Amino acid sequence: MNIVDQVPDYIRSLIPYAPGKPIEEVEREYGIEGSVKLASNENPLGPSPRAVKALQEKLHQLHLYPDGDCFYLKQGLAAKLGVSQEQLIFGNGSNELIELAVRTFMRPGDEAVMAGQAFVIYRLVVQAAGGSCNVVPLKNFTHDLEAMARAITGRTRIVFLANPNNPTGTIYRRKEWEGFLERITPELLLIVDEAYFEYVTDPDYPNSLSYHGESGALLTLRTFSKLYGLAGLRIGYGVGPKKVVDLMHRVRQPFNVNAAAQWAALAALEDHEHVMRSLKVNREGMGYLNEEIAKLGLERIPSQGNFILIRVGDGQTVFNRLLKRGVIVRPMGAYNFPEYIRVTVGTAKENSRFINELNNIIKD
Ligand SMILES: Cc1ncc(COP(=O)(O)O)c(C=O)c1O
Repeated sequence: MNIVDQVPDYIRSLIPYAPGKPIEEVEREYGIEGSVKLASNENPLGPSPRAVKALQEKLHQLHLYPDGDCFYLKQGLAAKLGVSQEQLIFGNGSNELIELAVRTFMRPGDEAVMAGQAFVIYRLVVQAAGGSCNVVPLKNFTHDLEAMARAITGRTRIVFLANPNNPTGTIYRRKEWEGFLERITPELLLIVDEAYFEYVTDPDYPNSLSYHGESGALLTLRTFSKLYGLAGLRIGYGVGPKKVVDLMHRVRQPFNVNAAAQWAALAALEDHEHVMRSLKVNREGMGYLNEEIAKLGLERIPSQGNFILIRVGDGQTVFNRLLKRGVIVRPMGAYNFPEYIRVTVGTAKENSRFINELNNIIKD
């Protein structure tokens, strides 16, 4: 059998992640200018200015390999989080850490439990490793922890939770979480993806870092792509028990996190002003969008992240029509929410542009 034909069905049937087009291409295609991108939950204020300065000062070192241990960043982050350095691992975005965890802890035929409408990468990575996905429907757009606990079988190796969840922006709360933890046994790894945790305002939010040590193997994943505005550099981190992290280090590439990402992330961690401004812009933008969406008579899912899922009727059509008017959002067909679009909270100007164009479309 030739090399291509030897590839198993679980690889052939993978549906590649559909990335958005570059903004310049969209503008050229539709003959528009000054479009706004509210499609990928990026920081509308841009990167941390301190991170940009750190990069500018260090660019002359680009001929050197990065620090394979992320030494300074690890030191800085461990101090900030109050965890030991041995509990930390960095990745080329938190996406890479999802993949590293799966490659380390799952074998073909093993199962992973995840929510029906959670971040699509979990499914892709598990399938690519020959694992099977035990998919549990959301309940009221939120992880159904009770049903997820029941879905665990003897073959389950990883459970994925996203809190807040993407694309719904919903969270599960402390009481359900603590009940769920009691049902998790040391035979499996519980991954809590907290890519958006900094935006959460609900006082009942269980920050998973406070629960390390209580459950057997809990891995918290976070990212510099959202609040810190460094999505283009690709850097995220995981916090887990030393034994778990140690095994993942064996599987990763020696230089998996590039030098620029390390310099920028360390500087961004100290950029309190950028963090505070970003949170304020998100809070105000979320308030504005919530009100305006209600005025348009549309339903939305209350969100604890930096994005909102809005029920618009035919999501794909509304997405296309917004695109022609220079507002790029995300249609939700791939998440099996065909009636919805997901919009990232932008700057005040971007948000009002989105609302105006959405209003025009609805009126038409
Ligand atoms: C729930 C969730 N986890 C992880 C990520 C990926 O983050 P990173 O850019 O760190 O790979 C995203 C990005 O959209 C996300 O929504």
